[in-house]
Amino acid sequence: MVSLWVARQCKAAELVIKRLVQTLISWEGKSELDKYLLVYQALSLLARGVSLLPIPLWRLLRAFGSDKQQPGWHSYGNTYGELFKHRKYGRVKLLEIGIGGYQDSPGGRSLLAWQAFFPFGTIVAADIVPKPGLAAKRRRIYQIDQSSGKDLAALCREEAPFDIIIDDGSHLSAHQLFTFRHMFPALKDFGVYVIEDVQTSFWPGRVMNVQWDGARIDDPAFAQTCYGYFLELAKYINHAEFVDDQNVDETMLELARQITRVTFEHNLIILSKGNTTERTASLVRVTTAWRRSSASHAAGNYS
Ligand SMILES: C[S@@+](CC[C@H](N)C(=O)[O-])C[C@H]1O[C@@H](n2cnc3c(N)ncnc32)[C@H](O)[C@@H]1O
Repeated sequence: MVSLWVARQCKAAELVIKRLVQTLISWEGKSELDKYLLVYQALSLLARGVSLLPIPLWRLLRAFGSDKQQPGWHSYGNTYGELFKHRKYGRVKLLEIGIGGYQDSPGGRSLLAWQAFFPFGTIVAADIVPKPGLAAKRRRIYQIDQSSGKDLAALCREEAPFDIIIDDGSHLSAHQLFTFRHMFPALKDFGVYVIEDVQTSFWPGRVMNVQWDGARIDDPAFAQTCYGYFLELAKYINHAEFVDDQNVDETMLELARQITRVTFEHNLIILSKGNTTERTASLVRVTTAWRRSSASHAAGNYS
């Protein structure tokens, strides 16, 4: 109830601040972009002001206008709330690729919600479109193309390592995978990597006026999509129990050694980083028994 009240106060405060700003400065003479940025910076103050309160993340995403939690858009708020609740008061460094918005309204709504959730966090955000006006204390903005290794390396040089990385950029499978390969090493141990809007993996060709690089699930090309790639990787999470390394993909194996969990949810893929080399105690016995029986089959003994 308290959190609902606070979320309502956030909305009300947004209106109050907007009115105040309108009254105090020559609002009419300002460009739409300047107006947006003024309100945005006022909302930043509000976000920092409420950040110590235990408001559920989904309410913050909703109240600050993020499309991650709006009717008719996405409902990622509860998932993120569960994932990040134990980090709320930590010194979290979160990178979000893709800031959103348009020309006169440069987006950044989720960044406000992250700031309102992590009182001691640093938010780093990157987009192909320049959005320098959204920067503030402990909120840094970069212009990058997520399909450029040079841009991603430069971003890492400035800001890595991260506790949380969220890819909400172009949503093209090729970009999602390219970015993951470059950015996963920049994630700290026990960090979380999220790829949003992976529905595009299932879209072969043109959907909603955009040319996607997805495939039908019965098409062998599905394996090359972002979703298909992580489905394959999911097998390797149990690599410590493989009885031998025949036909094993070494790159996948190496990657899986650093991943403790792959979670698939509606439109989301979530990876947790950590060491996974530990085997179950019984594995040595299983492996030895399996090798003996293979050798005996190879010798033609089927009894
Ligand atoms: C869905 S919006 C992001 C919404 C935002 N994360 C939020 O939660 O409010 C996608 C963003 O990705 C950006 N984008 C598209 N292609 C990109 C690329 N190749 N590199 C980096 N950003 C890209 C777009 O400019 C757009 O701002």
